[in-house]
Amino acid sequence: MLATSALALAYTLPAPHAACGAASMLASRSLSPICLSPAASYLDGVPQGAPDAILGLAADFRASTAPNKVNLVVGAYRGSDGKPWVLPSVKEAEGRLLERGEFKEYAPIDGNARFTERALRFAYGDSAALAEGRVAGVQTLSGTGACRLAGEFYSRFLPAGTAIYVSDPTWGNHIPIMERAGLEVRRYAYLDRSTNSLDFDGLISSINDAPSGSIFLLHACAHNPTGVDPSREQWRSVSDAILAKGHHVLMDCAYQGFASGDADADASAIRFFVDAGHSLLLAQSFAKNFGLYGERVGTLSAVCASSEQAAKVLSQLKLIIRPMYSSPPIHGALIVDEVLGDAALTAQYYDECKQMADRISAMRSLLVSELGAAGSSHDWSHITDQIGMFAFTGLTPSMCDELTAKHAIFLTKDGRISIAGINPGNAATIAAAIHDVTDGKDLGG
Ligand code: LMR
Repeated sequence: MLATSALALAYTLPAPHAACGAASMLASRSLSPICLSPAASYLDGVPQGAPDAILGLAADFRASTAPNKVNLVVGAYRGSDGKPWVLPSVKEAEGRLLERGEFKEYAPIDGNARFTERALRFAYGDSAALAEGRVAGVQTLSGTGACRLAGEFYSRFLPAGTAIYVSDPTWGNHIPIMERAGLEVRRYAYLDRSTNSLDFDGLISSINDAPSGSIFLLHACAHNPTGVDPSREQWRSVSDAILAKGHHVLMDCAYQGFASGDADADASAIRFFVDAGHSLLLAQSFAKNFGLYGERVGTLSAVCASSEQAAKVLSQLKLIIRPMYSSPPIHGALIVDEVLGDAALTAQYYDECKQMADRISAMRSLLVSELGAAGSSHDWSHITDQIGMFAFTGLTPSMCDELTAKHAIFLTKDGRISIAGINPGNAATIAAAIHDVTDGKDLGG
């Protein structure tokens, strides 16, 4: 059948292809060289794109043939055996879905409404805004999709020229996401690089210095890449400063449950900001806390003044979504819906989430003690002070390069390591390698 249609195509090929012999190549099913229409010559001008600062290095790790290579690049959980972990609660939910035989129909433009309702309750808790029906929420393609949608929404409805402020540093993808959405991206002070801890005064000054009505992108917990979160009192001051300047807040919540092991405690900044009455959008991801990375499950929600306003906002979010990707995927959302819709499964899930957070916290301590055992005289206490998936080690880009070239330990060039990649079997090796590239040198940022 294929051969017949290829042959039929060959007989009707227009002149340029006949001249370069594409017809006979097609007929003989040869694959190269291919002669394209002259119209395709615009492709000659397409330059090679730069690899992604995170996922490009993950690809380098996969391509490496080093026998003892270690992956500390991507923020994806690994168990103490070094392998990805499908949460038993997620497996159980998936089994139930298979047993029930869910249809594969399209989701509505804004996704699975029951999933969104449960997901928002997971984030907002018993907040009055939810009870009053004034939160507009849609299912998104994980946190990245939610951030992109938020950017598009701001671009459309805030005055032209409104800038979005992102922490210095922030997750690398925040910047192109917001730029592609048409927003000007500026930085706010966040990390004190001399101590690898919060530059609180700098943060408050940045909020005060930004033009009123700017957008502040805040990380709800387990800041990526630094692992440095404000304390409860500091969040309160950040909230006051933002309210005083009339700024908008986009909370990116990619690690709820991963910071403390308690999903409710990790949502406290979100809940506090909602109760304080902020102009707030929330980007929520279920990649890390439910281990649903590739399922692309998340939400975007907007806290509104009334249910009427929420209905209008929802209608506009749908108008942005439909021409972008039509509607979100269904499977992962059904899994989260199943877990959060069953009290026993939810309790099991909370326990499993805590296991992940506890293991990560234990690996922070282990790494610091192995660094000591390897003979390092640097103060590594910031590694145990930080929280969540990552540690911001203070390694310089050249130290990172050396760690990869000499020891096949892969990490991002900003010195961020994914603690999830550490386990009792490799911690001593990693520590010895870090000691090797940092010994006698200053740590930097
Ligand atoms: C990370 O920061 O490593 C993760 O959020 C994965 C990603 O998409 O960058």
